[in-house]
Amino acid sequence: MPRMTTNDFFIFRDLIDKKSGLHFDEGRKGLLEEALRVRIKETKAGGFQEYYRILSEVSTESEEFSRLLDILTIKETFFLRDKAQFEALRTIVLPEIIHKQKNRERNINIWSAACATGEEPYSIAMFLLDALPNPKKWNIRILATDISDEALTKARKGVYRKRSIRLLSDTDISRFFEKKGEEYVIVPQVKSLVEFSTLNLVRDAFPTSNGNGWDIIFCRNVIIYFQVETIRKVLTKINQSLSEEGFLFTGYAEILRYLSTTFQPVNFGGAFIYKKKKESGEGKGETALLGNNETKSPRKLQPAATRSIPSKLRPQALPISPTISKRETVLPKVSTSEGIPSEQEKKQKAGKCIELAEKLSNQGLHKEAIEECHLAIKHDPLLVDAYFLAGLLYNNKGDTSIAIKKFKKTLFLKPDYFLARLNLADLYLKEGIEQKKIIIEYTNILEGLLQNPKEDLGKFAGGYTAENLLKVCKERLTQMGAELPV
Ligand SMILES: C[S@@+](CC[C@H](N)C(=O)[O-])C[C@H]1O[C@@H](n2cnc3c(N)ncnc32)[C@H](O)[C@@H]1O
Repeated sequence: MPRMTTNDFFIFRDLIDKKSGLHFDEGRKGLLEEALRVRIKETKAGGFQEYYRILSEVSTESEEFSRLLDILTIKETFFLRDKAQFEALRTIVLPEIIHKQKNRERNINIWSAACATGEEPYSIAMFLLDALPNPKKWNIRILATDISDEALTKARKGVYRKRSIRLLSDTDISRFFEKKGEEYVIVPQVKSLVEFSTLNLVRDAFPTSNGNGWDIIFCRNVIIYFQVETIRKVLTKINQSLSEEGFLFTGYAEILRYLSTTFQPVNFGGAFIYKKKKESGEGKGETALLGNNETKSPRKLQPAATRSIPSKLRPQALPISPTISKRETVLPKVSTSEGIPSEQEKKQKAGKCIELAEKLSNQGLHKEAIEECHLAIKHDPLLVDAYFLAGLLYNNKGDTSIAIKKFKKTLFLKPDYFLARLNLADLYLKEGIEQKKIIIEYTNILEGLLQNPKEDLGKFAGGYTAENLLKVCKERLTQMGAELPV
């Protein structure tokens, strides 16, 4: 069969995006072509054109579309994925919900919105069983949905290999699983708590809870594959489905800043979780940028940080070198003749522009914020923060090629601007480019941070610490099966 043409790629990409929300940038063209070839062979279609006709005529719920999606979706998951989040669930979130419901209807509603093969909702069920003194006296609903029927079939079986349960303690393994040969079967008490159902987050209506909205929604490691506009729509629906005091858990790379003004990020000891913003203005302008935390945080919570949703980029491994602030070392202070601003004045103007850019982006005025970043760069072409913020803003606007340039420029000026490197590496990951190059980026960050664990992550780090960053990079490298530097 001849190779897929660029035109074929675009028409399939648009069709799949429209039907499922899954978006394939050009960097993932190879992946899409491979999947299409498998289905063309299986359906005995005459080629890409004929298969396109078949696919455009079938519904999203059809067997053919779901077979294709089963190949295209990334279903990597495991029990207790992101331990810090589960720790927050166990020690803060569940006790808070239980405390509030104890003298009410005793309802607990949790939705795992892209549950893949079930490890996530079963992990939640185990924690809930431990948190409730007498589970039988509670109305528990744990709904677990996914677009992939293949994943749901596995989830319903509840049979796992050692790799999936690697983060569980031996005690929990023996309490919640029955070992059958090489396999671990989830016990009926946990299994019966979870209800599985097919649901496409992009096209389907959202499920309603038994109470006044979901107490907790887990929507992790899925929106990363959607276009910015699709993410915004999904987030709006999630916001409407959550109870007023509800909690939203997203994946590491899925920081909602710049994508939603209706969620308030909170930091539970290194885990980033979202709450709804209050109408009263509490937490208004979510994005309460970094370090500018005028908003009230809920009890025990601290404002979280800022990292953008990754999008696409070509790889480039830049060496980590000691911090060189070119602004400080290269720019000479020139004396002024009348009317011509001094270097000092230019820097001051640039500083004001970047402050304004920050405020504008907090208010969701991204276009204006970008203009201020450009103005800042005009006044001070070596102002790294201006390139970085512009990179985040372009990235979230879906203008990936410009975002790439901005992150690269940031790193050119300051090779140890770790958050810029993280955004860059995440973009590589999302685009599915050569793994070796992505691994170099995450390893560079890890090595840099291990050498200097107290590293200041920059003006736009907000609550994001070196420790958070270390964790993100370690998780990414582990997922890719790469070695961790010591
Ligand atoms: C990487 S897994 C995430 C599993 C789990 N939430 C976690 O974080 O470990 C991504 C899942 O999203 C599902 N998915 C992709 N597009 C979806 C959509 N439009 N609606 C619902 N689920 C979708 C895939 O089938 C896949 O199972």
